[in-house]
Amino acid sequence: MSVVILALETSCDETSAAVVADGSQILSNIISSQVDVHRKFGGVVPEVASRKHLELLNRVVEEALAAAGLGFKDLDAVAVTYGPGLVGALLVGVAAAKAFAYGLDLPLLGVNHLEGHIYANFLAEPGLAFPLLCLVVSGGHTDLVLVEKHGRYRVVGRTRDDAAGEAFDKVARTLGLGYPGGPLIDRLAAGGDASAISLPRAYLEKGSLDFSFSGLKSAVINYLHRAAQRGEEVNKADLAAGFQQAVSDVLTEKTLAAAKETGVSTILLAGGVASNSGLRAALTESAGQESIRVVIPAPVLCTDNAAMIACAAYYKYLRGAFAPLTLNAVPDLKL
Ligand code: KG4
Ligand code: ZN
Repeated sequence: MSVVILALETSCDETSAAVVADGSQILSNIISSQVDVHRKFGGVVPEVASRKHLELLNRVVEEALAAAGLGFKDLDAVAVTYGPGLVGALLVGVAAAKAFAYGLDLPLLGVNHLEGHIYANFLAEPGLAFPLLCLVVSGGHTDLVLVEKHGRYRVVGRTRDDAAGEAFDKVARTLGLGYPGGPLIDRLAAGGDASAISLPRAYLEKGSLDFSFSGLKSAVINYLHRAAQRGEEVNKADLAAGFQQAVSDVLTEKTLAAAKETGVSTILLAGGVASNSGLRAALTESAGQESIRVVIPAPVLCTDNAAMIACAAYYKYLRGAFAPLTLNAVPDLKL
């Protein structure tokens, strides 16, 4: 007997609904991106995001059920991201999930968005053996998480300032590339020489597993300002490649150090920045040299989507960790 979960994800600017069976069989994963709406503002406008979620969510749910070839009667549970994220955006998903659960008399499951990102790895490989080390790199977070067992996490390193995705977005804006910056830098970097422009890498105190990207971001901005003052042309592809390499080097080195320190032999990559080609290549190569296994979800499962939420919810379902109908949005929810 399979367990079919409908999951909703509305924590930021993607309105997503997915139907997943047994935590690994993706029957549908509909993602409606609001990026075109927010692009003209150069970033996500929270109030606009909430209104868009409200407008799109029912349609996205209907589409997810239709694509799965199922109806409401076929569901076993309803899951939703309840934090961290934008409070108004989260509230739309949480209110809808509670209404579905109540109306259909189904159990409700509340999922931490970061837990969802981690579980994108279990969608591909349900049998992953613990303990696991996950590098979560998104627009709001850069965390090294030791996953001791299902639902049990220990954060062993985190950013002290900007998240990796935030640094990508800010550097892209300074380069005049547009929004969201990560994929644009990734594309531009492919045609650049990463060693042409020397940029700093912050390793912090000896043995620290924390990150800092604000110095690197400032170095890129200063480089551009100096060139402008001197009237020099900047090779943007080289600068993008150098920046991407610097971020990937630090993330890779600290992740491998954390794996050794915790004795973990499988590394997971998660979050929007996990779709970065430079990071994927750097981590895969360095871990390979140490005979450590790396699991990286397909890019569409790295950026925000509801299938990853359904997957995390499935393991909560198995251990009976249901949410009450009083579930609320928690914008600063911790792992
Ligand atoms: O996980 P995500 O979709 O949303 C959050 O939970 O924040 O991550 C979004 C972040 C953005 O900062 C975006 O620029 C970055 O992921 N991103 C990338 C790439 N694709 C998305 N960063 C670098 N390279 C990419 N290919
Ligand atoms: Zn995310």
